Amino acid sequence: MNQLPIGIVDSGLGGYSIYHALQTRFPTSSWLFLADQIHAPYGDKSKEEIIEIMIGNVSWMRQLGIREVLLACNTASSNALDSLRHTFADMTFYGIIDVTVSPLSHQKRVGVLATEATVRSGAYTQSIAKSHPEMDVVEVSAKPLVGLIESLSDVQVIEAYLRSLLSSLNSLDTLILGCTHYPIIKPVIESVFDVKTMDSIDPILHLFSTKTLAEGKSWVVTSKDPTYLKEQIHRLFQVDEMVFSKEEVSPFEISRCQ
Ligand code: DGL
Repeated sequence: MNQLPIGIVDSGLGGYSIYHALQTRFPTSSWLFLADQIHAPYGDKSKEEIIEIMIGNVSWMRQLGIREVLLACNTASSNALDSLRHTFADMTFYGIIDVTVSPLSHQKRVGVLATEATVRSGAYTQSIAKSHPEMDVVEVSAKPLVGLIESLSDVQVIEAYLRSLLSSLNSLDTLILGCTHYPIIKPVIESVFDVKTMDSIDPILHLFSTKTLAEGKSWVVTSKDPTYLKEQIHRLFQVDEMVFSKEEVSPFEISRCQ
């Protein structure tokens, strides 16, 4: 069994919401979350740029000894998963698109709110069509939303922006939050669109409840500013988290704590 942490990667706070849920549910298991905030937002980038960034992130995890990685990011899952599996053939990758749509059942019209790069990939429409070809899927991109969340913007500003999307996302049975940043503002989204939402968190918890997990310390690392990520986590999750820079994490430190 792999005794090293499972890597979790996203451009920032969305991945933290997944890490936090996994860490809470499996507190003795070992996770290493990389918030790649220096490259945020991923959603405005081209497929080629996203692949290049993700290859860099996985190479960094790989030199730490990590061999299993959860892409806690729809944008990376929809644009880079195949390339990562091809480039790092001896590693295991978990994407989150198929996992997120797995609880769909009787819905007729499903909305997907996601980043521009995720919508451009068509990954949600394709994934839903595989299991539910009868469902009508409408995908809408919310370009500024990740930036608004990362910059800890006021709820009123976020609400006003979401209202501008109301005419594109109407008469839905369910709205999928197709970006891991969005569950952080779930009550605002549900009130603006007046619809029940689905997100990736519970399906991911279910996925990992079926796996044997390594025990040991968990890590929160950022590619940008640890002090700012600590502040963001404190404000949005009311957690006093220890946050490391990439330079502070070495293969020695990781293996010493397992
Ligand atoms: N949280 C990510 C996602 O699920 C990335 C958002 C971004 O950086 O644009 O797509």
